[in-house]
Amino acid sequence: METVRLDIENNCVVILDQTQLPGKEEYLNIRRIEDIYDAIYKLKVRGAPAIGVAAAMGIYVYANDINEEDTEIFLRKFSDGKKYLEASRPTARNLFWALERMEERAVENKELPVKNIKKVLCEEALKIQEEDIASCRKIGEYGLTLLKKNSGILTHCNAGALAASKYGTATAPIYIGNERGYNFKVFADETRPLLQGARLTAFELANEGIDVTLICDDMAGAVMKKGLIDAVIVGCDRVAANGDIANKIGTSMVAAAARRYKIPFYVCAPSSTIDLNTLEGKDIPIEERDGKEITHLWYEKPMAPEGIKTFNPAFDVTERDLITAIITEKGIFAPEKIKDALT
Ligand code: MRU
Repeated sequence: METVRLDIENNCVVILDQTQLPGKEEYLNIRRIEDIYDAIYKLKVRGAPAIGVAAAMGIYVYANDINEEDTEIFLRKFSDGKKYLEASRPTARNLFWALERMEERAVENKELPVKNIKKVLCEEALKIQEEDIASCRKIGEYGLTLLKKNSGILTHCNAGALAASKYGTATAPIYIGNERGYNFKVFADETRPLLQGARLTAFELANEGIDVTLICDDMAGAVMKKGLIDAVIVGCDRVAANGDIANKIGTSMVAAAARRYKIPFYVCAPSSTIDLNTLEGKDIPIEERDGKEITHLWYEKPMAPEGIKTFNPAFDVTERDLITAIITEKGIFAPEKIKDALT
C-alpha cells in the first residue's frame, strides 16, 4: 500500500483514501488544488509527514498546470496556491515545512525559465518523500535501542506507514523489531472520534503479522496498571522549541497515565515536525473539528441528545516534563534539548 505517490506522466497525486480504510482500498487521482485541499482537510490523507508529502506533490502538480511563461506571474500564482493549501489544516508543522521548502526552491531558481523551475519543483517533491522514508527508518533504528524483546507497547492514533512513508514514525521501531524477532505485543488505542487507531493502526500492524490488541481510549490506564505496557510510543504533529509536543487528542492523557505507572513515554518525530518559531506547546494552533464527528459519525442512529453542545479539538499538547525522550532521525533527545536535532 502506498499512501501518497506522484504520477508524473498524468500530472496528479495518487492518494490512498484513508477515510475508506479498512473496508476499502481506494486510490484517488488528484490534480486540482481544491481537491488536494479537500483530501487533506477531510483526512483522506492524514498524519503529519504524509500531509507534508501530499502538499509538496500537490503544489508541484498545481504549479505544473500554471500556463505562464512570465516567472514573476508564475511565482505569484505559486504563492497563492501555497497560501491556500496552508489553510487546509493548522496543527501539523510538516504541512507548512513542505510548502515553505517548495517555495524556497522556486524562488531560489527564479532566474530560470518557468519550465525549468517546474522541473526543480518536481525533483524537490520526490526528494521530500525519499527523505521521509529514510528518516522513518532511522527513527526506527534509534527507537529500537530503547526497547526490550517481548515488550508490551501502547500507541495512540496512527503514526504508522499510512501516516508517513513506509515505516511510519511511532511504528518504525515496532516494524524493525518485528523483522528482528522482538516479539512485541502492541496495544492500539482506538482513538475517538475518528478511530485512526482502530481503522488504521490495528489494520496495518495486523496486516504485517504483528501481535496487536485494540482497546478503547479509556482502557489505556487499566492495561498499564495490569503491567502489560513497558513503553508508550506515539507520533507527533508539532514539536515546540521548548520540547512540548502536539499530537492526536488523548495523547496527553496517555502520557499522564504513563507517568503514574512509571512507564517511559516516547515521542517519534522527523526533524520536519520541529518548529523553533513556536516557543511552547501552548502556542501550537490546535485544530477544532465539527462536533458531528462526536455525535453522529460511526453510529447507525445518533447516540447523543439532539443539539447537544460539543467540543472537538483534534489534538492536544503534552508538556515536556511528561516526555521521556523525543526520537528523531538525528538521534534521541531529551525534550528540552530538541533544538540540537536541527543543528
Ligand atoms: O488527525 P490526524 O489523523 O492527521 O492525526 C495524526 C496524528 O496525530 C499522528 O500521531 C501524527 O500526525 C504523527 S503521524 C506520523
